[in-house]
Amino acid sequence: MSAQIDIGRDASGQSILIDLEELLATRLLVQGNSGSGKSHLLRRLLEECAGLVQQVVIDPEGDFVTLADHFGHVVIDAAAYSPREIEALAARVRQHRASVVLSLEELEVEAQIRCAALFLTALFDAPREHWYPALVVVDEAQMFAPAAAGEMNDDTRRLTLAAMTNLMCRGRKRGLAGIVATQRLAKLAKNVAAEASNFLMGRTFLDIDMQRAADLLGMDRRQAERIRDLQRGQFLGLGPAISRRPVAVNVGTVQTGAKATGQGLIPLPDAPGEAMEALLTDRLAEAAREPATRTPAPPPRPAIEIERALSAAPALRPAPAAPPTLRAVEPDAPAVLEQAPISAPAPAAEGIADVVRELAASEGATFRPATALFRDFAIRCRQLGIASAHVDLPGFRRLFAFALAGVDQLEEPLRGLVEQQAARVDDDVLAPYLALVIAAASGEPMPGEEELARLYGSASPSRVRRLLDHLERMGLIVVREDFGGERSITVPGVDEWRAEQGRIALAS
Ligand SMILES: Nc1ncnc2c1ncn2[C@@H]1O[C@H](COP(=O)(O)OP(=O)(O)O)[C@@H](O)[C@H]1O
Ligand SMILES: [Mg+2]
Repeated sequence: MSAQIDIGRDASGQSILIDLEELLATRLLVQGNSGSGKSHLLRRLLEECAGLVQQVVIDPEGDFVTLADHFGHVVIDAAAYSPREIEALAARVRQHRASVVLSLEELEVEAQIRCAALFLTALFDAPREHWYPALVVVDEAQMFAPAAAGEMNDDTRRLTLAAMTNLMCRGRKRGLAGIVATQRLAKLAKNVAAEASNFLMGRTFLDIDMQRAADLLGMDRRQAERIRDLQRGQFLGLGPAISRRPVAVNVGTVQTGAKATGQGLIPLPDAPGEAMEALLTDRLAEAAREPATRTPAPPPRPAIEIERALSAAPALRPAPAAPPTLRAVEPDAPAVLEQAPISAPAPAAEGIADVVRELAASEGATFRPATALFRDFAIRCRQLGIASAHVDLPGFRRLFAFALAGVDQLEEPLRGLVEQQAARVDDDVLAPYLALVIAAASGEPMPGEEELARLYGSASPSRVRRLLDHLERMGLIVVREDFGGERSITVPGVDEWRAEQGRIALAS
């Protein structure tokens, strides 16, 4: 099968075609200043070959979600999923050859980068039988494959560089063809740029970017001046899938719109001064009392929609992840490990609980990687002759979080509440979340920043802030910060629970 993608016309009105099969084998790099028309070009390309090849779009700005309207792409709203769900979704995207847009718009920068990296890595790691050809478009690629260290945390940087390098260098064998677009060629990691054999260069102002573009196109300095004179929507193309000599292309029209952005001037409203003042101050006190106006936290959304779109396979979330918990089966019976859906009590439960508690209490434990803790856990269990094979890493992480928060020392009904709340929360943020729930439910002061940082395993205040943002976005807590910087945290559901307990106590 040979397929040509018509991306626009040259100066004489002739169509410029990209050979799809060749593109899959040789990848593409698009560069141009902001506003030069890169996203428009990517959209044209995607639209022209929609239905011919699977498409995966990593979309930091939510620009491409409209592809869903005409071409049936599934939009994955990254903010609604946990890291492990993102990975599971990527595997299913490969399995079912679904065309998708991973919309990262709602996340903050570092979370966008981590999320894209996990997603790309899971695409790359798909089993061999799912290595179907797919275009993988990464817009604003300098974010995901930065040339310099920048402000990103080292771990994130390693993760994302590996993901992008795998995509561009080793993806071909696995069917993945990277198409990356960047505003600043000089800011894109060299090894990522170097793996594309096709280029489309748009308007570029900075000499350093122009020089690198000219090098890639094999142009000398004088010819490179052409890049500076390009208009919006004009690109110079070169490469085995496009042309053997640089060709100028005016990118054609598109069918779907970019997300509406406030381009141009919008007429101002013509309300007179007092009317405007009234609009601004009307029932202001009432509005200020509403707690959720500062950050409207969307409720955690079930994966159902995506589920349906991706496959008829069994649900991605099998059941609300019931934590393996320690609790007495009968009032006087010894505590046993209860891990849904297996109801048979595991005899080693008491021993396992002791080992986890011992680990949780050890100096600096929370700052160690979960995998290292899990290894120590397995070794310790083996030394003590305790069978622990049924506890996997996620199960261990939950037990560890429960031990850190001291859940096994709680009495009913508080303990029941905590276990119930925990079922909605991912392992990696569980310990600090449980500490907040326990403090809120027992009417004690909320743990301070330092304690949250310790439970979260981080020494960085900005990570704690991001943790709180994340919990708030998941609808798990509500944070209010006044102008003095004083922060108060409430846990939805817990106040109601306390009131209910009060009523029960009164009635009895
Ligand atoms: N070839 C084109 N024809 C018509 N409009 C275009 C073309 N290329 C870009 N535009 C418009 O110019 C604006 C900026 O383009 P965009 O693709 O968002 O730039 P970039 O992604 O490089 O920042 C958008 O409003 C887009 O619709
Ligand atoms: Mg863009």
